[in-house]
Amino acid sequence: MNVEAPLAFNPMDPDLAANPYPAYKELREADPVHQSPLGFWVLTRYAEVAVVLGDAETYQHCYAQTQQARLGDAVAEEPYFSRFQRMIFVMDQPRHPALRKYVQGSLVQRLPSTRRKLQSIAEALLDKYAAERRMELIGDFALQLPKSAIGDLLGVPEEDHDSIAESAAKLSPTFEFLPMGAETLASVNESILVLEDYFRDLLAHKRKHPGEDHLTDLLAAIDAPDGMTEDEAISNAILMYIAGHDTTTGAIGIVMLSLHRNPDQWKLLTDDPSLARSAVDELLRYDTPGQATARVAMRDVELGGKQVPQGSMILFYIGAANHDPAVFENPDQLNILVGKRRPITFGGGPHICVGQSIAKTEIQIALENLATGCPGMQLETLNPEFRPTNLMRCIKSLNVTW
Ligand code: HEM
Repeated sequence: MNVEAPLAFNPMDPDLAANPYPAYKELREADPVHQSPLGFWVLTRYAEVAVVLGDAETYQHCYAQTQQARLGDAVAEEPYFSRFQRMIFVMDQPRHPALRKYVQGSLVQRLPSTRRKLQSIAEALLDKYAAERRMELIGDFALQLPKSAIGDLLGVPEEDHDSIAESAAKLSPTFEFLPMGAETLASVNESILVLEDYFRDLLAHKRKHPGEDHLTDLLAAIDAPDGMTEDEAISNAILMYIAGHDTTTGAIGIVMLSLHRNPDQWKLLTDDPSLARSAVDELLRYDTPGQATARVAMRDVELGGKQVPQGSMILFYIGAANHDPAVFENPDQLNILVGKRRPITFGGGPHICVGQSIAKTEIQIALENLATGCPGMQLETLNPEFRPTNLMRCIKSLNVTW
């Protein structure tokens, strides 16, 4: 790219959904700390992305301001606004660490049972399709693992898994940077209220009938001095679905696509499915499920030699940082035998993904079972259609046979 030419990087460009990496490369090489004509800053280099993630005092979510900038002052009256404001995902210090410790403690404790559940779901799903030797990978498999795992983790009764996951899926437009239309806003508000009622009732039920689950663990957080309020516990229970569902579904889809676009790598895995565990980091680096996140600069800062004024919105690309040649040799090549690297797939600093062990376990179990159960898998296409979002990598559907 000619450095003198005006840069045309548009984070909303629908063409980025299919393959954003060439556009990141172009921008990283020409202007890695880029002031967009659209009014915000865009980071594509690992070094600056790591700085922003690591410094939660200087770079904050400022949820209220950013939502107001996106949807106008009236957004404060929308039901979703106050419910989301209580989620650790968008919370700033000092409340963030105070609440996160409860969520984290519970997820660590629940990991072994979640692992067992995931293994049994993966086996049951492959048994279900064993006779036909065909399925739609995203809907029949990738979506089912997180749906059951998160439902079970939270202590949601099995008969409600589908309806709760469906309501939660309607909340995803809240994470986009674009304004929401009236219809989307109405659907988001309706879904959050449905989920809030549901989890309030379930929390009351767990109070009388405690289970071995995350929601029961949150009761202890509510009862702790300076613990969570009930409203915070409910919002953060809903967050598990929002943060842990689409991301992992998307991840299983793109990981399988990457392996089939690189058949030598799929062969390595089918020859030795125990490689799945160590392959996960490299697969998620090569194609990263959560592409971007954002913060606001709380003071004037210098990033990559540029002066970024206080109050600037900074959009940073984890997917681009994961392909930065300054950190990763041959970044556009997939090598599941590469060994330890430092991909930034799950973020960093105080907001680093609290569900990353669960996510990695889900993907590992998916890979082990698919590599063992369907080594001869063929994808209907190596160029499937992606959902029209540039924040996440989600294949719409993908028929497979074996
Ligand atoms: C492959 C799957 C996943 C990816 C790529 C992913 C990625 C991320 C990233 C990049 C962040 C940090 C965002 C930021 O700093 O702005 C994050 C935060 C978070 N993730 Fe994940 N995630 C995944 C799966 C999960 C799962 C399965 C769960 C729940 C069980 C989960 C729960 C969360 C929560 C609650 C946060 C907010 C943490 C905080 O702000 O303190 N994620 N995730």
